[in-house]
Amino acid sequence: MIRDLILKNRSYRRFYQEVPVKLETLKELVDLARLSASAANRQPLKYILSCEPEKNALIFPCLRWAGYIKDWRGPAEGERPSAYIIVLGDTKISPSFLCDHGIAAQSILLGATERGLGGCILAAVNRTKLRKVLNIPPHYEILLVLALGKPKEKVALETVGPSGDIKYWRDKDEVHHVPKRALSDIIIG
Ligand SMILES: Cc1cc2nc3c(=O)[nH]c(=O)nc-3n(C[C@H](O)[C@H](O)[C@H](O)COP(=O)(O)O)c2cc1C
Repeated sequence: MIRDLILKNRSYRRFYQEVPVKLETLKELVDLARLSASAANRQPLKYILSCEPEKNALIFPCLRWAGYIKDWRGPAEGERPSAYIIVLGDTKISPSFLCDHGIAAQSILLGATERGLGGCILAAVNRTKLRKVLNIPPHYEILLVLALGKPKEKVALETVGPSGDIKYWRDKDEVHHVPKRALSDIIIG
């Protein structure tokens, strides 16, 4: 089951924008992160939730989508995320966050996948702009933005070919292809 969930939990970048994600759902997803591992159990992560069109519209211009797909500037109006979870690190609790935010992001996205939703982790964020538009106090480090919604795209996993190219790409039918390294190439001892 966990393998099925992980296979389904792809990075989705186009959504049915008209399908809302409830605030209650976002809270349930953050609760999964709350229950996840944290270095030294310091639990320094804090979250900002957004599921209203007006707030979403402030967040969207701060994000950079799919860097390898050069002729695409991100989802068009109508295909944008219905919700976001912004993952912050509270520097009053800890000066560093190690991989807490990665673990939190995965817990949240697996929970979203289980609920028929999908999303994308975004680290390519204009943090100065996001801090300004949402009035995020300076003692919170902006770590990740998680985009969420009902996925509107097909993602196909494939094995990295002999060229070793790991860049994801999109075919003429807009299927998003993601090369993954073979198991035999990553277990080195
Ligand atoms: C830490 C991290 C940061 C990422 N940042 C971005 C980003 O800024 N923009 C984006 O479109 N995708 C981003 N992604 C998504 C990756 O591109 C994606 O995970 C990768 O292409 C593999 O696809 P998959 O998640 O479907 O396996 C990020 C993923 C991770 C784990």
